Amino acid sequence: MPFPDSFIQELKFRNNIGDVVSSYVNLRRSGRNMVGLCPFHGEKTPSFHVYPDNGSFYCFGCHAGGDVITFVRKIEHLDYVEAVRFLADRAGMQVPERQVDDGMARLRMRILEINREAARFFYSVLNSQEGQPGMDYLRGRALTQRTIRHFGLGYAPPDRFALVNHLRRKGFSGEEVIQANVAFRGRNGGAVDRFSNRVMFPIIDLRGNVIAFGGRVLGDAKPKYLNTSDTPAFHKSSALFALNFAKDAGGDQLILAEGYMDVISLHQAGFPTAVATLGTALTAEQARLMARYAKEIVLCYDADTAGQNATARAIPMLREAGLLVKVLTVPNGKDPDEYIRSYGDQGYARFKNLLDTTGNDVEYRLQKLQQANPIEEPAGRVAYLTGAAEILAGLTNRIEQEVYAGRLAEEMSVDRSAILRQVDSLMKKRRREEKKKEFREYQQETAGLRDRVNPDKASNLRAAAAEEALLSAMLRYPETAEGIAGALSADIFITAFNRRVYAALKAKLDAGTELSLSAISGEFSEEEISSIARMMARYHDVPVSERGVQEYIQVLKTEKAALRARQAAEAEQPQELLGYLEALRKQKK
Ligand code: UTP
Ligand code: MN
Repeated sequence: MPFPDSFIQELKFRNNIGDVVSSYVNLRRSGRNMVGLCPFHGEKTPSFHVYPDNGSFYCFGCHAGGDVITFVRKIEHLDYVEAVRFLADRAGMQVPERQVDDGMARLRMRILEINREAARFFYSVLNSQEGQPGMDYLRGRALTQRTIRHFGLGYAPPDRFALVNHLRRKGFSGEEVIQANVAFRGRNGGAVDRFSNRVMFPIIDLRGNVIAFGGRVLGDAKPKYLNTSDTPAFHKSSALFALNFAKDAGGDQLILAEGYMDVISLHQAGFPTAVATLGTALTAEQARLMARYAKEIVLCYDADTAGQNATARAIPMLREAGLLVKVLTVPNGKDPDEYIRSYGDQGYARFKNLLDTTGNDVEYRLQKLQQANPIEEPAGRVAYLTGAAEILAGLTNRIEQEVYAGRLAEEMSVDRSAILRQVDSLMKKRRREEKKKEFREYQQETAGLRDRVNPDKASNLRAAAAEEALLSAMLRYPETAEGIAGALSADIFITAFNRRVYAALKAKLDAGTELSLSAISGEFSEEEISSIARMMARYHDVPVSERGVQEYIQVLKTEKAALRARQAAEAEQPQELLGYLEALRKQKK
């Protein structure tokens, strides 16, 4: 058992799930529950529910669910033990000494130590004789000594064992160095440096840990940039380059650029709120992360097709995270770094001007649409207006829709209310489609067709429903649990997963622990906990009477008897078949 039951109970008591979730998600009250937009998948209508009375959450859209510990695991990318530590810290509680070692937390710590040491190494090489090629390169890109120091830039020398040997001397094993992904396993099994002859960009998280590196070749070789792959201490999809600086730079605005060099150039020129993803498309998680530090994002991607496609994909993601979005297009097909550099001392003023005159995302999309449709011709006008109505229908703010409908009406000399009517009918259509999709998913789910956690369910629907009602009653009304546990032994449960949950609950009861999802959440995987949370969510608004409980118990007993009879019959069948074949043979003779 990882932690004493009493400690987990106290932890749960001191970390109200509503409060914890609220620091990540905008929740609004709905009766006894709270609802909001799910932080684990992108959505426009809230299907994420928090149930403070039983300490659980569940998303009807993506089926993520669990207790407060599960929530922290998922949102902070921690394992169970680390999530418990996190919540204990939050509540100012002392974590009890444990015999079981938390291997994952230790590995993560070692990786962070390796990264820090590697960053120091790269930095000192850059500033030594050996680092001249790297220094020449960075100076050639107009970076000052001050900028190089600020970002902790470095140089990985050409020798393929330079870092590995250095880290060995510092007491790190080849295995650890490979786990940290600063080295890979060579043909003879030993560690070989991952980065060599590259200028190095350390990626630093909000707590000041070096979590990863990007490394750029000095010339035109491929790949141009090499990045750390995901490690236990690094998730590409939830990190942003330079957010550690940008978050403290003041203001409600962040600039989102495409590359490391763009960000560094922008900071050096006087725009310390620039950040970038790490060579991947923007994720919903990164959008939410930015929303914690800003109200508005200025998208500042490259002007090429790839950059513009990335812009189109990023806009809805940022909006869904509740951010205002502007789109800055750098003129003459340049990227921000090239643009700023091309103006030398004027870089700040020039870019500031671009920033100040940048339109928002709706204007940007309308403009793109107009460029694609010749509005001098009737067909082009129709296409433009139809597309524009689609864009407006995607907005959730009515005032915004009316403002743009007004502008369009004037610009194209059409009736404003005609545009709005079109927008409304598109919105209705979308909502219908969304509902239909939700219903289809719900049907599949209730039919047990998609249950990976409990595959037995599909062929035992009635029994599984009774089992789940009983389990959720035990979790929601601990006072009924004794009665149920007295009446049923675990082997009467037909589906394997539900039987396991029941056995776990029963064991807690026997130990005198009050039942809750948190009491057993250490014994199940995240996916399994989600399944249990789903049972609780599904029966949440159904009050459970003593009689109801008796009926479920009865159903379970009947189903079990029927199953036993079926199994007995199946067991007999081969015998009958043999007899039949025997009879046939005799007939033939
Ligand atoms: P770009 O190719 O636009 O490079 O890639 P850049 O930022 O302008 O680079 P410089 O100015 O030539 O140095 C944008 C970002 O995509 C990722 C990097 O994060 C880069 O900053 N990328 C690019 C990679 O991860 N690998 C690559 O091979 C290329
Ligand atoms: Mn560039």
